Amino acid sequence: MIEAKWYLDQLQERDAQGLLRRLRSNPQMVNFASNDYLDLARHPALAEACAQGALKHGTGSTGSRLLTGSPTIFAETEQKLALWKGSQAALLFNNGYAANLGLVSAFCDSETHVFFDRLNHASLYDGARLSGARLHRFKHNDPQDLERLLQTNPGKGWVFTESVFSMDGDLAPLAQYASLAQKYRVGLAVDEAHADGVFGPGGRGLVHELGLMDQVDLVMGTFGKALGCAGACVWGSQVLVDWLVNHARSFIYSTANSPAVVAAVSRAVDLLDQEPWRREDLLRLSGLLRQRLQAEGFDILQSQSQIIPIVLGDNASAISASEFLATHGFWVFPIRQPTVPAGTARLRVNVNASHSEAQLIAFVDCLCAWRNS
Ligand SMILES: Cc1ncc(COP(=O)(O)O)c(C=O)c1O
Repeated sequence: MIEAKWYLDQLQERDAQGLLRRLRSNPQMVNFASNDYLDLARHPALAEACAQGALKHGTGSTGSRLLTGSPTIFAETEQKLALWKGSQAALLFNNGYAANLGLVSAFCDSETHVFFDRLNHASLYDGARLSGARLHRFKHNDPQDLERLLQTNPGKGWVFTESVFSMDGDLAPLAQYASLAQKYRVGLAVDEAHADGVFGPGGRGLVHELGLMDQVDLVMGTFGKALGCAGACVWGSQVLVDWLVNHARSFIYSTANSPAVVAAVSRAVDLLDQEPWRREDLLRLSGLLRQRLQAEGFDILQSQSQIIPIVLGDNASAISASEFLATHGFWVFPIRQPTVPAGTARLRVNVNASHSEAQLIAFVDCLCAWRNS
């Protein structure tokens, strides 16, 4: 047996710094922490598709798709997803973490320069670490800084960025990155975890909205957020998807997702076109909240999406605001170092289509009351 005291001491130290992470049960409050942006996670049509999928294909995939073969629902859904995004091919992954881990490490090795927006998600960083690639971090959303790094690090390279940033809610200058990727002959991969279902025609993502599908080599999207299910997908040319099947370790060495969940994902894609009001409501409500927070003088960085950071500075302020809001019925999570840089601790508000205008207004009033307390 190991000596647990060392771990206990470390955890207590984290707690003293306001950095301890705890699992909590799902609160019965107005929830501003959920990624269920379109309020689909409890949609009866998805529950029905999941149940039917389980009856038809089983609850378990029984192994890696390369070993056991995969239920037909996987290939059918990949074809549908490829058509939906306007891409040649698509490959399902178990979640966004596994997709990013797999795709970065499949395409990059110790000879590759990888260019990362500093604020990229941990799953992309972990993929870079696994690949052993040479990591160059450019300033957040800064094409000039990216170009400086591209100029000084010639050779095989890939640029990785999110399209909607998970902590700041701002949008990457994708068109400029696409031009740079073309100019310097490097790959470009975009993580649309927070854009799929929300941005672009019918929720097809920001890359689609900007007409860049032909200029982005790989697009990653997740199904556990706006689509209300679980899993992820990588879109690209057939060659690149074939490469992933052969080199993405998180795809090769892992039991595939539940076919029942894949059936629900397939149905969720239909719902995006059938119930466009969800997206429209979400975008309208997000705009309303951003505008009200700014009018009250809160710093929401450059958010242009349903993810709205409210920067409060130190960890203690973020925790105090979160606790105050919780006592008034609002569930909003304090985000601290190391998830965000020191001194930028914040509340991260995720607007969902299920919120009402009245709830958003009451939330801002409550935040003002905390500030004045
Ligand atoms: C930008 C980004 N990429 C990838 C992921 C991982 O996706 P998943 O939650 O499906 O593992 C997340 C989710 O936390 C994310 O915010």
